[in-house]
Amino acid sequence: MTKTFAVIGDPIDHSLSPNIHNAAFKALGMDCTYIAYRVPRGELKEGIESLKQIKISGFNVTIPHKIEMMKYLDESSEECKIIGAANTVTNENDRLVGYNTDMDGFLEPIKKRNIAIKGEDVLLLGAGGAARAIAAGFAKEKARRITIANRTKEKGQELAKFAASLGAESNEITLEEAGQNAGNYKFIVNATAVGLKNEPSPISTNAINSQSVVYDIVYMPMNTDLITQSKKKSATVIYGYEMLLGQACLAFEIWHKVGAPYDAMRRVLLGGF
Ligand code: ATR
Repeated sequence: MTKTFAVIGDPIDHSLSPNIHNAAFKALGMDCTYIAYRVPRGELKEGIESLKQIKISGFNVTIPHKIEMMKYLDESSEECKIIGAANTVTNENDRLVGYNTDMDGFLEPIKKRNIAIKGEDVLLLGAGGAARAIAAGFAKEKARRITIANRTKEKGQELAKFAASLGAESNEITLEEAGQNAGNYKFIVNATAVGLKNEPSPISTNAINSQSVVYDIVYMPMNTDLITQSKKKSATVIYGYEMLLGQACLAFEIWHKVGAPYDAMRRVLLGGF
């Protein structure tokens, strides 16, 4: 029988996860399908019930449900517990087990390039759900210090506290200070929503240089202003679509217990741009 998978969230119509996973099924000749299912805020419980009704084999969770999803899990991975959010769920006879592949999915493109994180300084822009998983990732990899810059100061301070609780040295600055001092950091990561609407970079890029590694998790458009400016400064750039693929491959491997066909997944994704 065909196995069904899904991504739930709201908005969901622009999600690229169905394209990525269905391309993988096709590449490996698997009898599976993956759908996007809009579940509005406040309706997560009902949404999960209906997924159980159709005997969903597994699902991804995205904005705004990643944190609330934790309440409905029968079991959760260590990463979920640390981050406090789940983005990948398996369903076996109505027993839901949660995972979080955002953290390792984020780290994957850095590791693939053989760029060391240990002992390096990180400038992290943003303090939302994605920034939290990223801060946990840098803490796990023993970055020297994680500096958070966020529009809303309190949220930035809160995230700095969280990073410190995971053993990383951490502090909080303004976005303006971040731009001025960007040259002092090995990693500069945009985990804000700025760029999605083609806005200018959230920080000044003047100080970015050839030693910088600039990672923008905004994947649409692929070349955000931050990425374009950073390339001009000869920085190493990492694209948002790489994190998207990284987390999708890890989810695929949790569900199917076989290696994800990365190239087929990448091809369909880049074809979509
Ligand atoms: P996600 O799960 O993708 O991280 P989120 O939790 O809504 O989404 O977080 C969005 C992040 O983008 C936040 O850090 C937000 O800053 P605030 O904490 O001040 O809201 C940031 N952000 C969104 N729009 C922004 C803008 N126009 N300028 C600066 N930061 C912005």
